[in-house]
Amino acid sequence: MASKPALPFDLSGIRLEPGHGLARQLYQALREPILDGRLGSGTRLPASRELATLLGISRNTVTRALDQLYAEGYVAGRVGDGTYVAELACSRPVLPSVASRPAPSLPLQRLHTHHLPSPPSGAPRAFRIGVPAFDLFPFDTWARLQAGFWRKPAPARLGYGDPAGDPELRRLIAAYLRSSRGLACDAQQVLITCGSQQGISLCAQLLIQPGDRVAVENPGYRAAGHAFAVAGAQLCGMPVDHDGLDVAALQRLENCRLAYVTPAHQYPTGVTLSLSRRLALLEWAEREDGWIIEDDYDGEYRYAGTPLAPLAALDRQQRVIYVGTFGKLAFPALRLGYLVLPPALAEAFARRLALDMRHTEIGTQAVMAEFIAAGHFQRHVRRMRQAARSRRDALLAAWPAPIPGCSPLPAVDAGLHLSIRVETLAREHELIGAAHAAGVEMNGLSDYWLPGSETAEDERAGLVLGFAAVPEEQIAEALRRLRQAWRL
Ligand SMILES: Cc1ncc(COP(=O)(O)O)c(C=O)c1O
Repeated sequence: MASKPALPFDLSGIRLEPGHGLARQLYQALREPILDGRLGSGTRLPASRELATLLGISRNTVTRALDQLYAEGYVAGRVGDGTYVAELACSRPVLPSVASRPAPSLPLQRLHTHHLPSPPSGAPRAFRIGVPAFDLFPFDTWARLQAGFWRKPAPARLGYGDPAGDPELRRLIAAYLRSSRGLACDAQQVLITCGSQQGISLCAQLLIQPGDRVAVENPGYRAAGHAFAVAGAQLCGMPVDHDGLDVAALQRLENCRLAYVTPAHQYPTGVTLSLSRRLALLEWAEREDGWIIEDDYDGEYRYAGTPLAPLAALDRQQRVIYVGTFGKLAFPALRLGYLVLPPALAEAFARRLALDMRHTEIGTQAVMAEFIAAGHFQRHVRRMRQAARSRRDALLAAWPAPIPGCSPLPAVDAGLHLSIRVETLAREHELIGAAHAAGVEMNGLSDYWLPGSETAEDERAGLVLGFAAVPEEQIAEALRRLRQAWRL
């Protein structure tokens, strides 16, 4: 009798763990070498009895594993002739074993260094940046509306919806912006996003060609800069002074057609872009045939003076893309925001968003629409504004001044955070280290600068504190701990 050809894959090397579904383990142990080509098509497997003896398991177990492989098409049988590895559609070359193969990785150009650090998580503490008063959100109302929607959703709303978002929500957002922000827009210009970051990222994908210059505030919102850099932009940091972005510096910058700004309350310094700078910025966009991305992340929070109209409300040339979010009025985890686009861009943006995610989830959109239509939203905005003002007052009233090496607190007329200059970077680190050790959160202003900024290191130093996240008593308690930690 002719001796059987040796198997290219040593089945005696298969190790099975008793008590953990032996047939399943054997099925996997055989499937893997079939898939990676070590057991090529046409290879004859040993008879079930032989395999059972070889592996020290029952023949029944072997039969079950082979039956499964047969059912899924990995092996084929010839009557009276045993079991063969089937002809697989994709016959793969023999690969090195999994252990010796390098782990799959992204192409080098995708491994960009623009890591977006995660904001602090967990329950809010004093003085967390970027979060409003979660404790005031009317969860009972939200839960009622949510239950109402899902109890009997209209079938027409359960298929694929408009990529631009729920038409009713878009209509209500446009109406809200017209009445509360003076922004003359209609529902066709509103695109529902999953938060500002997606809106900014869409702008990056649609408005930037690799190598383009993009002007960003410096210091500024790094997550926006990262989105532009990932799209291939060359970031150009623009100085910010007490009137906001230095538009004269932008005008001197050559070959730049896109600027990202936070005019209502500059992030992180807290200054407001003056009216003359707003007009100059619009003029720049018109002259350069460029675009302005206006991030109005906390524009509802204004405590004194007349709110300045958003750039988008002053724009006569359709040059401004307005970015809005519900994250600072409800809570960031809601992931709901919107863009207000110049009419000529609206369709292209909706088509691009559809490629990423078809559209934003319907439940949250529908419930927000009802929340606005029933007047809860407007009530909530008023309540949040009042609460933020009162929490700001609690911080200003009990702030332990003077603090060696720190400027006095600024006037805070808007937003949910403030920033204070510190004399040196070493002092910034010292103050923040001691605050964190005492369980009090705050950020270093130095973290908001672009790498390689020309501004001297010590001039970048400061503290950034959010004041709206927790109620007044917790603010007072955190300030008491700060006094001790900073030995004041
Ligand atoms: C300047 C700025 N824009 C936008 C956002 C909000 O982004 P999102 O709506 O994606 O949570 C933040 C959050 O902190 C921010 O600081």
